[in-house]
Amino acid sequence: MSASGKLSFEVKPGGSLRGSLRVPGDKSISHRAIMLGSLADGVTSIRGFLEGEDSLATLRAFRRMGVAIEGPVEGRVVIHGAGLHGLRQPDGPLELGNSGTSMRLLAGLMSGQAFPVTLCGDASLSSRPMRRVTDPLSRMGASILTEEGGTAPLAIHGPVRLKGMEYAMPVASAQVKSCLLLAGLYADGRTCVTEPAPTRDHTERMLRGFGYPVESAGGRICLQGGGTLNGCELDIPADISSAAFFIVGASIAANSELELRHVGMNPTRIGVINILRLMGADIEVMHEHNIGGEPVADLLVRSAPLRGIEIPVGQVPLAIDEFPAIFVAAACAQGTTVLTGAEELRVKESDRIQVMAEGLQRLGVDARPTADGMIIEGGGISGGEVDSHGDHRIAMAFAIAALRAGGPIEIADCDNVNTSFPAFTDIAGGAGLFISERREI
Ligand code: S3P
Repeated sequence: MSASGKLSFEVKPGGSLRGSLRVPGDKSISHRAIMLGSLADGVTSIRGFLEGEDSLATLRAFRRMGVAIEGPVEGRVVIHGAGLHGLRQPDGPLELGNSGTSMRLLAGLMSGQAFPVTLCGDASLSSRPMRRVTDPLSRMGASILTEEGGTAPLAIHGPVRLKGMEYAMPVASAQVKSCLLLAGLYADGRTCVTEPAPTRDHTERMLRGFGYPVESAGGRICLQGGGTLNGCELDIPADISSAAFFIVGASIAANSELELRHVGMNPTRIGVINILRLMGADIEVMHEHNIGGEPVADLLVRSAPLRGIEIPVGQVPLAIDEFPAIFVAAACAQGTTVLTGAEELRVKESDRIQVMAEGLQRLGVDARPTADGMIIEGGGISGGEVDSHGDHRIAMAFAIAALRAGGPIEIADCDNVNTSFPAFTDIAGGAGLFISERREI
């Protein structure tokens, strides 16, 4: 939050989304690029790095551990890798802000270091569950102190010798999987993680890109500790999670036709496209190709009448960050949309079931939260005031909702949009959203 008070968005109703745009780089891939580039031997050159607060928190953490990192300048970063055993003890706790990915992945990596380190976050991150990583890490031999309740700060005490293990994850979480694989780089023997449902596989893909063997079959991912990573070139695609606001926006706003360029189309991330297509969205996938082990495409999205659906449970982990936007699509659809199997939404940057339900209700939508999802009756959205509770994706979802609202929407507490989508208001305004920023005095 800025010293001069919190940021609000004011969005006038109506408008269409038209033209062609590229949203910023993928957040998940940007974090991993900094981590693996820092641990590699040699130089890693990155293009398309997300200059948002979350991935910058990861970048600053590695600088504080002695890694020479040039940039970012217009998405370009050059990392002079320190090697797997070349990190140095930072001179104080690592501040990770709002970023769950930084904290959970670093918990694994730091467990393998020869020095102690403490990981801290903001109020939201300090209330999120960390036992999902500290429990299995302890089984590998790590020594981590949490607050009562299993929350950050995490005090990680090196040096320990980690041992590989076989772990069946109780939740489908890419952060947990990645945390354990990164710890596994430092462990004696093999570390194998089995996931209950497919989750984003950027860590596995990128490790292979750095020349580190990873086996995966039937939801079980294994690696052997003690190898090396070789610096490489990375081209990070645009973040489908940021594109999602525009995919929904162009679908719900009349007379829209919007091209989204160079969007990451990793099959473990495209749940939002699958779900919106089931609802009747008109999304054309063009120029599909592979860049550095990740599929990428341009998308052409046109306005379409949407219908309510029962969201297939198998799509939930593949769209886990996109539900704020999907809920807005559901509010504009004809009929009922039912989401189940998404209790993980309650432990994101905010309780996304509760906060979205409250906001939608304030905008006149019949949205009923359930323990693990939401039931939304499509119809109209009215104008009104909503609070994002400092959750970047909720702020952007309500901004897009104004395209179909009956009056202006004012959204409080929007500073954290900068964690994943700097320049959101400029890009959205350029595409046709009537959005302006206001900072409280
Ligand atoms: C992420 C994994 C997901 C996602 C988060 C980023 C990652 O979290 O919600 O925004 O980069 O690995 P979970 O692992 O908790 O599902």
